[in-house]
Amino acid sequence: MVRLIGILVGIFFSGWLLVTLAVGFFTWASEPKVETAEHVFHEHPKALHLASDGPFGHFDLQQVQRGYKVYKEVCSACHSLRHVAFRDLEQLGYTEAQVKAEAATWMVPGIDPVTGEDTMRAALPTDYFPKPYPNDVAARAANNNAIPPDLSLMAKARHNGDAYVYSLLTGYQDQPAELLAEFPEAKTPDGLHYNPYFPNLNLAMAQPLVDGQVDFDDGSPNDLDSMSQDVAAFLVWTAEPTLAKRHATGWPVVLFLLIATVLAYLAYRNVWRNEKH
Ligand code: HEC
Repeated sequence: MVRLIGILVGIFFSGWLLVTLAVGFFTWASEPKVETAEHVFHEHPKALHLASDGPFGHFDLQQVQRGYKVYKEVCSACHSLRHVAFRDLEQLGYTEAQVKAEAATWMVPGIDPVTGEDTMRAALPTDYFPKPYPNDVAARAANNNAIPPDLSLMAKARHNGDAYVYSLLTGYQDQPAELLAEFPEAKTPDGLHYNPYFPNLNLAMAQPLVDGQVDFDDGSPNDLDSMSQDVAAFLVWTAEPTLAKRHATGWPVVLFLLIATVLAYLAYRNVWRNEKH
C-alpha cells in the first residue's frame, strides 16, 4: 500500500513537472521577441595581441612603461589605482632611484608634522597611487553622476579585459543613423557618450584619449590606437604584476611533474617485476 502511494505521488510530481515545462516553453515561444538597441548595436571587443598573452607570455616592459605614462598624464585625473604602490614600478625596469624620483612627482594626503592638520605631501615609494577625488560624492559630482571605477583590476574585472579597454578607448563615435531610426528612444542622453563597446552603449566617460595627447621620450607612435594598446598593456600588468613570474615558474613545475611521473612508473615496474598481479 505504502509502495503504491509512493508511486502515485512520484507520478503526480513528474506529471506536474512536465506540465510546467510545457507551459513555460509555450509562453517563451509565443511571446514576441523584444529587440533592444543594446542587442543590435553592442559590439564585442576588437582583437588585441599583447606580449603578455598566452601561456608563455611576458610583459613588453617598454610598452607597459608607455602605458604608465598614459595613465599618469590622462587617466589618473579621474581613475585611482589603489592596489598599486609606487615601489611596484621597479618591476617595469626602473631603478630604485628612478622610482623614488617618480613617486615624488605625485602628491598624496599627509599630515603637517607641526600642526597635525591634513595636508598634501610628495609621495614615497611605499605609498599607493592616490585617489583623484576625496570621496565618491565629489567623484560623482564631477562626472555626470557616475563614479570612475578603480582601474587596478579592470583588466580582470571585465571579460577579455585588455581588448575591452583598448576597444572602449578607440570606440567613441556618433550614434549610427540606423540606431536612431530603429530605436528613437535609445538616443544618447545629454552628458553621456555613445560607444558600442560599452554594454549599454552610452557611458559617462567622454573620450579621454586623442591622437598625439601624450609624448613618449623614445618617439614611439602616439596615435590613439597605439596609446590605447599601451594603456591596456599597463592595466594587464596592474591586474597581475606576477604574470611573467607565474609563467616562468609554471612550466618548470609541469616539466618536473612529468619527469616525476615517469620515474614513479619505472619504480613501480621495478618493485613489482617478479610479482604476478
Ligand atoms: C574626465 C574623467 C575621466 C578620465 C580622464 C578617464 N575616465 Fe575612464 N571613466 C570615467 C567615468 C566617469 C567612468 C564611468 C562611466 C560610466 O559608468 O558610465 C569611466 C569608466 C571607465 C572604464 C570602465 C568601463 C566599464 O566597463 O565600467 C574604463 C575601463 C575606463 N574608464 C578607462 C579609462 C582609461 C584607460 C583612461 C585613460 C586613458 C580613462 N578612463 C580616463 C571618467 C574618466
